[in-house]
Amino acid sequence: MEPVKVGLLGLGTVGGGTVNVLARNGEEIARRAGRALVIAKAFTRSPDKPRICDLSGIELATDPWQVVDDPEIAIVAELIGGTDIARELVLGAIERGKHVVTANKALIALHGNEIFARASEKGVMVAFEAAVAGGIPIIKVLREGLAGNRIEWLAGIINGTGNFILTAMRDQGRDFDDVLAEAQRLGYAEADPTFDVEGIDAAHKLTILAAIAFGIPLQFDRVYTEGITRITQEDVRYAEELGYRIKHLGIARRRENGVELRVHPCLVPARRLLANVDGVMNAVVVKGDAVGPTLYYGPGAGAEPTASAVVADLVDVVRTMTADPENRVPHLAFQPDALSDLPP
Ligand code: HSE
Repeated sequence: MEPVKVGLLGLGTVGGGTVNVLARNGEEIARRAGRALVIAKAFTRSPDKPRICDLSGIELATDPWQVVDDPEIAIVAELIGGTDIARELVLGAIERGKHVVTANKALIALHGNEIFARASEKGVMVAFEAAVAGGIPIIKVLREGLAGNRIEWLAGIINGTGNFILTAMRDQGRDFDDVLAEAQRLGYAEADPTFDVEGIDAAHKLTILAAIAFGIPLQFDRVYTEGITRITQEDVRYAEELGYRIKHLGIARRRENGVELRVHPCLVPARRLLANVDGVMNAVVVKGDAVGPTLYYGPGAGAEPTASAVVADLVDVVRTMTADPENRVPHLAFQPDALSDLPP
């Protein structure tokens, strides 16, 4: 069987990691997907920039529409970030009957309702495992692993950069700006790092987790959002003295009249598992009525951890697209129920 052709939009940290993972593990990935996958074309604004990956065999495009318009491309992987051009490209790919994989949490949190509606009309998939908690397959956990549960609440460290900063402030007494600069160098931070430190990135991710966990629409504007910019060395030290650690958490909880969504720094008792999640690692606790509390832990950012999630989605899409279209399971069980709002 012919390989499935994938078009990449973006060859930065995540795009480069995706090229590397597919090149290194191609055979195993093909076995799992039932078809080989090749990156046939990739869009980059700067074709001459040094890369973390080998681009041989990949046709480079300097206009993203050359990827989206290519009739040979079956899956478009959107890895450029941002919400304006990315939205147009993703909707453009859907219009052309292509499946989409994206790592773009802002795009899904802000425009997901529109994107999923269009994708379901066109009968294509939009997969976004890489949008939340980097390499932790938390979307698949909520959608599949815990499908038998009524989710009561979830809480987690869902911004790697923020956790990296808080950990270095505690363990090394380092200055906030200095650690943020290091997170940027390591490719953890957003293009605009205020998204990380002001809690916006975590709020995007919480919006997505809550939509899947509770069957509510994506409602980014209903998330109470506070970042870590006002946390001082003194706060970190006092917390430690009192037996706590400061962790930036995203929390979604089912309440009588709706779902409460909040993102802010919390004092977590030092003996708790979440208090011991350090550096760029993320962790999400999900409480289901049948299973009880469960914990998922792994790298929350970085090239290959995020690529791991992108490739998992590519495999998932290939498996699903080769199934009988009549019997396809919707990629996102997205049926908003009565819990459509936060309590007044
Ligand atoms: N800037 C994000 C973080 C990248 O630090 O968690 C992964 O979503």
